[in-house]
Amino acid sequence: MKVTAKAHPNIALIKYFGKKDEKEVLPYNDSISITWDTFETRTTLETAKAFNVFLNGHVASIEDREKIKTFLTYFTNDVSHTVVSSKNNFPTAAGLASSASAFAALSVAANRYFNCNFSEKNLEAITRKGSGSAIRSLYGGVNRFNRNGYVTRIDASLEEYRLLVVLISDHAKAVSSRKAMKHVVETSPLHKAFIDTANEDSDALEKALLSKDFHTVGRLSEKSALSLHGSMLAANPPIHYLSDAAFRVMDEIVKLRRENREVYFTMDAGPNIKVLTTKKDVRLVANHLKAQGFNVLPALKPSKEGAHIL
Ligand code: DP6
Repeated sequence: MKVTAKAHPNIALIKYFGKKDEKEVLPYNDSISITWDTFETRTTLETAKAFNVFLNGHVASIEDREKIKTFLTYFTNDVSHTVVSSKNNFPTAAGLASSASAFAALSVAANRYFNCNFSEKNLEAITRKGSGSAIRSLYGGVNRFNRNGYVTRIDASLEEYRLLVVLISDHAKAVSSRKAMKHVVETSPLHKAFIDTANEDSDALEKALLSKDFHTVGRLSEKSALSLHGSMLAANPPIHYLSDAAFRVMDEIVKLRRENREVYFTMDAGPNIKVLTTKKDVRLVANHLKAQGFNVLPALKPSKEGAHIL
């Protein structure tokens, strides 16, 4: 028996950061993301003599293995004859939402492999326990991860949107987003401010996406990313993922905006910068950043494709 599923990562414009219920993975605030094409995770479950997990072709660490084993108990009582192999075609654990596509693909594969036939809502509730952001990779397009733990799909037209990834480092980050968010919730005096604005901004972002107001979408995205990193810097001890190169990229983006380009940045719990821009400006923005010596990956387009069985 062998089942393979595929999922794309999503990048949050309004960030999720902090759980009001750790066990159920219920977020303090609503978050909104776009699912992007090209980058993908493919996860295969197959029958074998003993349980094992392979990540990107290597035997997984004990920590990852246990995490996946625990996750599979939502689908079965017996994992002893299941082998999980998961591969990303993009850097893992570098703030490029690899845990989102990984747990979305694993959920969909396990649902079929163990013949669970869970409804969409049940699968959402399970998937978020693997990784909160993974709930938004179950579907293509724009998705809102609500405080109640479920997803609302936002039917916005994304034809003009493009995303550039400026790769500052492709090494796995030292602190996982899960650990970082717990630490920030517990020690950062700015976390409350982050949550309060995130809920209001999610409503405003949804409206801006639906009314094709790219300027407001970009402005709110930057605000959420900066507020997230501000709350991390105010934690005790502080957490900082961004290097001086990351700030130089942000400066270049502000400069391009002064030249009337539609371009904004966003960052997650990792060193890399994601650049939100338009079909019209993407080539110029990429060339400008490359000319400054930055490593810019080929542009991504929004994907309508949710996690699915291959
Ligand atoms: C900064 O979904 O990785 O990317 O639920 O603990 O697995 P866990 O966290 P995770 O956190 C994502 C944080 C973020 C923002 C976002 O994607 O909304």
